[in-house]
Amino acid sequence: MSQLTAASVSAYVEQNKDRFIGELCDWLKIPSVSADKKFKADVIRAAEFAKEQFLKAGADKAELCETGGNPVVYAEKMVDPSKPTILVYGHYDVQPADPYELWTSPPFEPVIKDGNIYARGACDDKGQVYMHIKALEILTAMKDVPCNIKFMIEGEEEVGSDNLGPFLEKNKEKLKADVILVSDTAIFSVETPSITIGLRGLSYLEVKVTGPNRDLHSGVYGGAVANPINILCEMIAGMKDENNHIVIPGFYGDVVELTEADRKALNSAPFNLDNYKKALDIADVEGEKGYSTLERVSIRPTLDVNGIWGGYIGEGAKTVLPSVAQAKISMRLVPNQTPDKITELFTNYFKSVAPASVKVEVIPHHGGEPAITPTDSAGYKAAEAAFAEAWNKKPIPMREGGSIPIVALFEKVLGLKTVLMGFGLDSDAIHSPNEHYRVFNYLKGIETIVLFHKYFSKSNL
Ligand code: BES
Ligand code: MN
Ligand code: MN
Repeated sequence: MSQLTAASVSAYVEQNKDRFIGELCDWLKIPSVSADKKFKADVIRAAEFAKEQFLKAGADKAELCETGGNPVVYAEKMVDPSKPTILVYGHYDVQPADPYELWTSPPFEPVIKDGNIYARGACDDKGQVYMHIKALEILTAMKDVPCNIKFMIEGEEEVGSDNLGPFLEKNKEKLKADVILVSDTAIFSVETPSITIGLRGLSYLEVKVTGPNRDLHSGVYGGAVANPINILCEMIAGMKDENNHIVIPGFYGDVVELTEADRKALNSAPFNLDNYKKALDIADVEGEKGYSTLERVSIRPTLDVNGIWGGYIGEGAKTVLPSVAQAKISMRLVPNQTPDKITELFTNYFKSVAPASVKVEVIPHHGGEPAITPTDSAGYKAAEAAFAEAWNKKPIPMREGGSIPIVALFEKVLGLKTVLMGFGLDSDAIHSPNEHYRVFNYLKGIETIVLFHKYFSKSNL
């Protein structure tokens, strides 16, 4: 008889919760920002910290694996080659904490306030990775590790995981497993736990519009020479019609439309539009006509400006007709759109609508494929059973709007399906100032992960 029950596991968590929170806070103090080279030493320190914690938690092996970029932390606990193997993926790198002045407490000095842990990375993704390290500790302490567990924690997720694809190619044998388990997504709410079954893809690029060869006096030249900022704004505004439909020819060509039954299921989640608006302090939502808010953020593609600059933004007024305007643009993709094709369609269209008075350049950044995960797999069923036991509720399947590009590669390179069992909340402010993670979700998540291992190891693969 397995001693791994919600009761025994939650008792262990309860007895050790202060230490579990304290250890996570020690990890969160290390600013492992992958986007900024000045944090390189901290990134390595964060990887070393994880390695040590894996060993303390009971891993029989933990190491840093070199890649072309930040190291991958690899750890494993192998109990019996005839038993199933779970490969846990997550990331120890975090988004930049800027703007620092909007944080109510410093981003790398974690504090517990109102039942939340506040720090950059608290939810995305150090907090969620640390749940797996503590789940390993519990399985080891209870002397009941029911399956083999491998861990691959990367340090470049927030900058596009460029080196992880080659890492998978080179380490197919080492990474051999039956399923991939990822905690880097959210649940619908604490009252309605969910399992993520789809993620959007991403095409990210930068555009540059150049007018005259130098900044000009806006009185002397204004009215006769193209203003690249005005032009860029018009070009961007023209990319959506009055129904918020993206007008780039071919953009929706590969989009898979859901069946009415699937749309109905998606919209049956207990979503409250008024609370949604209140939480964001907006009088109304906006999006593609004909689709609900839940659909707009999950099964429909988007086009958004992430940043735009040019001209004079210093103090006071400077009369200037700028030479250059730039913007960073992201498009979230849904099955079966691909980043390469969408980037090409965008580029051709953007160039075709530019007036002769300006030159335009499009610089592609990273991309990622969308992903769909099955609901009839052993992995999904184990996650469902784990939630049912730990939360006393059957989780609902949910498609999410964020992207984890490596999920598509797990299937392509390793031939493995992923279970997206995350425990964040949309309100956790990931990537924003004051990121936080509910202590409840953190502790309950540890329990759920332990039970996932139990149920997955019992399934007939
Ligand atoms: N954990 C997020 C992705 C996510 C967030 C999925 C919320 C589902 C719900 C991940 O760390 C992330 O931020 N991904 C980036 C993509 C990457 C290529 C920079 C994203 O979605 O912007
Ligand atoms: Mn993440
Ligand atoms: Mn992220």
